[in-house]
Amino acid sequence: MDSIMSHIVNRRSVRAYTAKKVDRNDILTMLTAASWAPSGNNLQPWKFCVIMEDAELIKNLASLTVYQNWVKDAACLIAVFLDARALDNNIPDIYIKHVQAIGAAIQNMLLVAHGLGLGTCWIGEILKNADKVRDLLNIAADLQLMAVLSVGYPGKDPKSRRKIVSENIVGWF
Ligand SMILES: Cc1cc2nc3c(=O)[nH]c(=O)nc-3n(C[C@H](O)[C@H](O)[C@H](O)COP(=O)(O)O)c2cc1C
Repeated sequence: MDSIMSHIVNRRSVRAYTAKKVDRNDILTMLTAASWAPSGNNLQPWKFCVIMEDAELIKNLASLTVYQNWVKDAACLIAVFLDARALDNNIPDIYIKHVQAIGAAIQNMLLVAHGLGLGTCWIGEILKNADKVRDLLNIAADLQLMAVLSVGYPGKDPKSRRKIVSENIVGWF
């Protein structure tokens, strides 16, 4: 299997982390991968906030999700935002395109992290507390929270799940 496909197939959401710190360069590599994602009209609507030095802040952010028992152990959290300043009303469906681009950027980050031996989890559940996340990070209202990613060295191997690839997801014409 080529390496891209092997990272796609072998990446699993990781929900347990060791205490080992992550290297800032690895996080920079993830952010570079995010920046190379495609985006509608190449508007690159993403912004990121990396929390890896301030343990108290990690704990406070973790408390905003029902998954706090393992999110608090992540060596790094990356909050991902859609920058509303990149919304151009002259471009049809630009909001949908920006959300899709941010999904692509996140997937790039997860795959690169996997290649670096890091475990990640995409946390959407925290979106219910988007305002509180912005308050904790002192982030302006024109940045809309899209996700928080937990990053760290895997504490245990995640369950390997066989994904069912079925013909039901595709129509061939
Ligand atoms: C938009 C989105 C939101 C998600 N939110 C959460 C979440 O809040 N908590 C969590 O543990 N996993 C979350 N996940 C991870 C999914 O549960 C996970 O990707 C899915 O179960 C498949 O498992 P895998 O990533 O190991 O292949 C989210 C994934 C996506 C794409």
